[in-house]
Amino acid sequence: MTNYQFYDLPLEWQGFLQACNSCSNCELYKERKQVVVFRGGIKASFMIIGEGPGRHEDEQGLPFVGRSGNLLNDALTGLEFTEEDYHICNIVKCRPPGNRTPTEEEAVACRRLLNAQFALVKPKVIMLSGATAFRYFTGSTDPISKVRGIWIESKGYYIMPTFHPAYILRNMSKRDLLWHDLLMVRKKLEEFKLIAPMENPILL
Ligand code: URA
Repeated sequence: MTNYQFYDLPLEWQGFLQACNSCSNCELYKERKQVVVFRGGIKASFMIIGEGPGRHEDEQGLPFVGRSGNLLNDALTGLEFTEEDYHICNIVKCRPPGNRTPTEEEAVACRRLLNAQFALVKPKVIMLSGATAFRYFTGSTDPISKVRGIWIESKGYYIMPTFHPAYILRNMSKRDLLWHDLLMVRKKLEEFKLIAPMENPILL
């Protein structure tokens, strides 16, 4: 299942997806069922980067479609993001066996494709979902609990680290923090007129 029809996509996207589907840059290709590239818009001002596909994502070929994805979707919908407003992807595109954390070597091997994806999507605001995405995307070893909710400005991009939805599922008292961080993203996008204002603004 995908949220796009391959032949409806621009040629540059078709080429990119072919490169992803034929990738064997690290060992993860051996056990994957599908390469998980994205869901959401192909051009979006807001990119969400998670860690890597889990079992459901590997089966469906889409990122964040399991329990974590449901929690993330609830927050996105609650804050009136539409599917075209965001582009969701991961640090690695193939499932690490047993849902282990991707190794640095795997993250580095996948970075070239992530960079190409970044260039196609052209986001202005990036949400790093969880400690692994934060570490591999920024190179920083600061704990996510210290950096979440605080903007990082770099080369004209606005980066918002936040907790991973799987962590929120285990610590539901932290759920408001994810909503808070997502609301900050929304406000930043509104400031740049990159998203329509909310019809029913909420105060957190
Ligand atoms: N967790 C992630 O980090 N990414 C997914 O796609 C699913 C779960």
